[in-house]
Amino acid sequence: MEINHSEIFPSICSVSNMGDYEQACEHFNWEDIERHFTWYETGKCNMAYEVIDRHVTEGRGEKVALLYSDPLREETFTFRQLRDRSNQFGNVLRKYGLSKGDRVFIFMPRSPELYICLLGILKIGAVVGPLFEAFMETAVKERLIDSGAVALITTSSLLGRVTRSELPDLKHVFLVGDTVEQQDSVIHYHDEMASASSDLELEWLDRDDGLIMHYTSGSTGKPKGVYHVQNAMIQQYYSAQIVLDLREDDIYWCTADPGWVTGTAYGIFAPWLSGVTNVVRGGRFSPQDWYATIDKYKVTVWYSAPTAYRMLMGAGEEILTNYKLSSLRHVLSVGEPLNPEVVRWGYKVYGQRIHDTWWMTETGAQMICNYPGMPIKPGSMGRPLPGIEATIKDDKGNTLPPYTMGNLAIKVGWPAMMNRIWNNKAKYEEYFRVPGWYISGDSAYMDDEGYFWFQGRVDDVINSSGERIGPFEVESKLLEHPAILEAGVIGKPDVIRGEIIKAFISLREGYEATPELKEEIVRFVKEGLSAHAAPREIEFKEKLPKTRSGKIMRRVLKAWELDLPTGDLSTIDD
Ligand code: WTA
Repeated sequence: MEINHSEIFPSICSVSNMGDYEQACEHFNWEDIERHFTWYETGKCNMAYEVIDRHVTEGRGEKVALLYSDPLREETFTFRQLRDRSNQFGNVLRKYGLSKGDRVFIFMPRSPELYICLLGILKIGAVVGPLFEAFMETAVKERLIDSGAVALITTSSLLGRVTRSELPDLKHVFLVGDTVEQQDSVIHYHDEMASASSDLELEWLDRDDGLIMHYTSGSTGKPKGVYHVQNAMIQQYYSAQIVLDLREDDIYWCTADPGWVTGTAYGIFAPWLSGVTNVVRGGRFSPQDWYATIDKYKVTVWYSAPTAYRMLMGAGEEILTNYKLSSLRHVLSVGEPLNPEVVRWGYKVYGQRIHDTWWMTETGAQMICNYPGMPIKPGSMGRPLPGIEATIKDDKGNTLPPYTMGNLAIKVGWPAMMNRIWNNKAKYEEYFRVPGWYISGDSAYMDDEGYFWFQGRVDDVINSSGERIGPFEVESKLLEHPAILEAGVIGKPDVIRGEIIKAFISLREGYEATPELKEEIVRFVKEGLSAHAAPREIEFKEKLPKTRSGKIMRRVLKAWELDLPTGDLSTIDD
């Protein structure tokens, strides 16, 4: 049975080919989208029902939901199979006393089990917290402590990074996959699943009940637990229609890992809310592997990131002769600025315009995008989704005219907006310091046709390969190293990765600035925090610029690096 979108919400269908953007905005109404969901009638919802079970109920149970592959494994799951497996896992969780509102974290590489577990967690009304597999001890510990996670699902190879003695709230650890030796006090996923029933009574929820937490970095302090509620599904579904342009027969591939928001919102929720076949490719990036994935599964809609496109561009056109990419009909990008030359290159070699999309962990869904059918201005993030109001504001909250750079701000009240920052009301409120508006932390300008152009971050957050890295987290780790007295971390422009992490370090007495020490420091961060947070460049300095209150002035470090004037130094110490 086909989903007929035009019957469900007439107003977006006129939008789904964004020929007439203005008209779409004028006629837009969130309620037209809400009508798509069964909860519009019943009042009770569950994301897992909407993404999986519903398709079984409505006669799409035998359709392929997941095409999973990695270099060692290949498996296909229908919606019915995912429903049954996730029901089973929901029952396993219940057997161990887990229930609505509990935070249950997942820390493992991509695999079908990751998706089954995530759905099972949602089915019992628990809140899922996915952690990127590259996180090391400290990063894992901080996130589990802050969230008060009561259960964790992981693999035996990652278990060593979970310091259980320091995690009093963590009651249960589930292990997926083969275990080499008998692990004490862990629950074995496969054993439990073998005897679990595939009938489950779903936990019906309210729209403002919890869904998912993603930790993300700011420029100060520890990572923040961005907490989303069920309501996000409205916008995730809507954007899947008008931005991803998903249709019944699409084979969709989002390359992001579920440890990051793109990998859940657009790697799980948006495609399955739309009932399409979802491709998941595990393992590492390689141009050959990625092109082979598109070719093999005949991917039609592809959502990736600028760093990946730049790497593919770097791999050249020669290798393309080995693969057929003619199945592609829509290509998108997110996470960092998409260079105009990449857009032009994509058009030349894929015959596709790469559609840039802007949003953030905190926004929960796409906000400013390029739509199929709309003229693209390479270098621009596009225009706000109909139903979303974006503007540029100065620091006092005044709206700025076109072509003036300022804070990219969104009018409060979009459905996927984060519900809170876990345990940190003050941080949450900072985003809403201009009444009625969300201040994104990005700077941008708008042109006279309402297209938005990204300019940079307002704060010191680093964006390396589309991953948000808080300099504070890296600096804190560096300071744990015995040789390091002071550390300041900045993003240094890089052609492939957008930015790389550069650390300025002053050493304690008795330590010598040697290449070996540099290597050791990089390893120290890699092993303690995570590979993607380790500095790619280190520069030793006698002294670092600090304010009188002792805060390292990253702005001055950046000016040094870029050979720019250092600006106002009146607050500098010494
Ligand atoms: C940046 C990822 C330029 C931006 C979904 C934002 C972008 C941060 C774009 C959010 C884009 C995201 N052009 N920059 N199209 N999309 N960004 O939370 O700085 O991992 O604030 O969410 O990435 O990163 P996050």
